[in-house]
Order: sequence, then structure tokens, then C-alpha cells
Amino acid sequence: MEMGFFGAAASPPPQKTPLFPPLPRPSGQGGEGDRESLATKKARNERSDFHQGKGWDTLYENQHLQGILTACSLVCLFTDKTQNCEVPVKPEIVLETHHLRKEFNGLVAVDDVSIQVTAGRLHAIIGPNGAGKTTLFNLISGVLKPTAGRVVFRGRDITGLPSHRIARLGIGRSFQITNIFPNLTVLENVRLAAQARGKDSLRFWSHHRRFRQYEERAWAVIQQVGLSGREHIPARVLTHGDQRKLEIAILLASDPDLLLLDEPTAGVAAGEIPLLVETIRRVREENSRTILLVEHKMDVVMTISDTITVMHQGRVLAEGPPAQIAADEQVQRAYLGEMEIAPGGGA
Ligand SMILES: Nc1ncnc2c1ncn2[C@@H]1O[C@H](COP(=O)(O)OP(=O)(O)OP(=O)(O)O)[C@@H](O)[C@H]1O
Ligand SMILES: [Mg+2]
Repeated sequence: MEMGFFGAAASPPPQKTPLFPPLPRPSGQGGEGDRESLATKKARNERSDFHQGKGWDTLYENQHLQGILTACSLVCLFTDKTQNCEVPVKPEIVLETHHLRKEFNGLVAVDDVSIQVTAGRLHAIIGPNGAGKTTLFNLISGVLKPTAGRVVFRGRDITGLPSHRIARLGIGRSFQITNIFPNLTVLENVRLAAQARGKDSLRFWSHHRRFRQYEERAWAVIQQVGLSGREHIPARVLTHGDQRKLEIAILLASDPDLLLLDEPTAGVAAGEIPLLVETIRRVREENSRTILLVEHKMDVVMTISDTITVMHQGRVLAEGPPAQIAADEQVQRAYLGEMEIAPGGGA
């Protein structure tokens, strides 16, 4: 623990309208089939052609369709706003929590927390010691089961799933306390993590050369976090900053979509923090990964985050971009005396 700054329910799937609704079947022997109109026969033949593989060629020969396509093209051409014909893309929400609550023997650690994390963004969770940040991470990553509420990851309800299943679904989580194998080398730490996500996760007795693909992945990830040249030294020998980078490499080895980083700069010497922050920024930018970050150091939070959620006594106090949070009077009042808030300023 480091002292510092203030410190839809899923709707049923829409009914699909068939592209080619079934046509009346011809009897060929009098009755209704004989009364089939010429137009209906023509339409059925065209659809039949399509299903028999003549496909789009047949469709393009259809005069009605040609008319519609030409009209669309002309509208785009004459308004000279072709780009406006594109349907705007809604940002993808990777993770949602709905009214999450966690009680420990009457103590409400997380209280009615609903957040949305957008794909490719760095979303920070801040708040004073005991605000419920780590508990929120524990609920998202399956370490704890919520007392109430839901966690939805990529549209799937993952509430209460065990943590190993959540990890396999694509959520990688680091802990407030450094979590590595100290006696294994940097490479071994990362290769094991890569292997754990792959099909060979239980074949630990096999010779490591069998797992060349995992080793290649490990080398690439080690380079990405800036640990090249240290592959063969035991993890315990690394500086604290490098051990934190190793933790990030271990997470990346399993190729998660979402990383939960709990105080990655905790215990790291001041001189090492800029490089560590740069590593986090690079990881996010190079891979367009989504990062949910708990952090106490405000200079780090204000420079690296796209969105900040402020927690206080288990609840969400405020949410918005860094400048908005820095100017928020309610946030300032809540943390008065604990630190100064200023974008780019120190904690
Ligand atoms: N397993 C647990 N059993 C009982 N109480 C707990 C447990 N875990 C957390 N708490 C309590 O829940 C509250 C929130 O704790 P949490 O660790 O989530 O805070 P935090 O915001 O991460 O704080 P910090 O910034 O100090 O890490 C605290 O009062 C804490 O004592
Ligand atoms: Mg914590």
C-alpha cells in the first residue's frame, strides 16, 4: 500500500429477417402452383440462381437493384460528401461493470460501481487508500465474487467466473505486490506465461525446445517492454522498476485484450518511473490494447490517462478526462490536504 494522492441488462438477440424469404412452392400439378404469377416465378428463378452459385452476377443483372445502386451512387457523387455515406463507428466498450458491490462482514468496500472501459484507451482508477480500487480489480478479475452487480467483458457476463477462466478470456491482471518467480530467469518467467495460455500448459516436463513458439513470443515481449539483454538473468536480480516491466511482459505473453495494472509504480525508485511509464504507454500504443490502471502518482495518471474514474469510500465520485478531473471541485474537496492535483504536477 503506498501513501500518496487522494491517493444493460443483455437484451434478447434481435430476430433476424431472412435475406431471401421462402417463396411459394410450385406444385406443377394444377392447384395453387398453377396460379403462380409470372413475376413470382421470375423472382424465384433469380433467387434460385443466387443459391446455385451464380450469386452477385445474377443480382447485378436485376434491374430494380441496379436502379437502387445507381441512385445511391449519384447521391454520394452529386453531394460530394461520399465520406458522409459511411456509418459512424461507435467506440467499442470492452469492459462494463453494472452496480458492482462488495461487502466484507458489513464493510462495503465497493458500492454501486458502474464503469465502462473503451477499447484502446488507458482508463485510470484513482482514490485514497481504502477507496476500493484493488477490490474492484479483484471483482473484475475473478479473485473475489461480488455481493451484487455484474461484470461484462466484450458483451459476455463474466460475473463470478474463476480467475483462470477470466484470464483465458483475455483479461490479464498484475498485482499491487510484485508477482514473479524470483529464481527463474526473465526469459523463463515470460515463456512459462506464454505456455500457460497455449495448448501445452500442462506439459511442463517437456524439453523447452519443443516450445519454440512460446520462446519466440517471450523474446518479442521482452523486447517490447525494454528488457532486452536481461533475458538470462534471474528475476530477483532485476531492479524494482525492471521487475515491474517483467510483470507487464508476463501479462503480455498471454496476449490479453485488457490489462489491469494495480499500482505498477509502487515501490519503484523515482528515477525508474519515467521509463516504466514509457513502457506502459508503448504497450498500449503499439498493440492498441486497453489498459485499466490503478495508480497513486498523480503526475503519472494525469499524463498517461484518457479517462479517470475517482473512487471514494467504495463509490464513484467523478469520472472524465484528466483536465476535467483536475478541475473538479468535488474531487479537490474530497482530497483536500492529501495532495495537490495538477495535470503534469507531482503527487
Ligand atoms: N479481503 C478483505 N477482507 C476484509 N476487508 C477487506 C478485504 N479486502 C479489502 N478490504 C477492505 O476494503 C476496503 C477497500 O480496500 P482496497 O484494498 O480495495 O482499497 P484500495 O483503494 O486498493 O486502497 P490502497 O490504495 O491502499 O491500495 C478497505 O477498507 C479494506 O480494508
Ligand atoms: Mg489497492
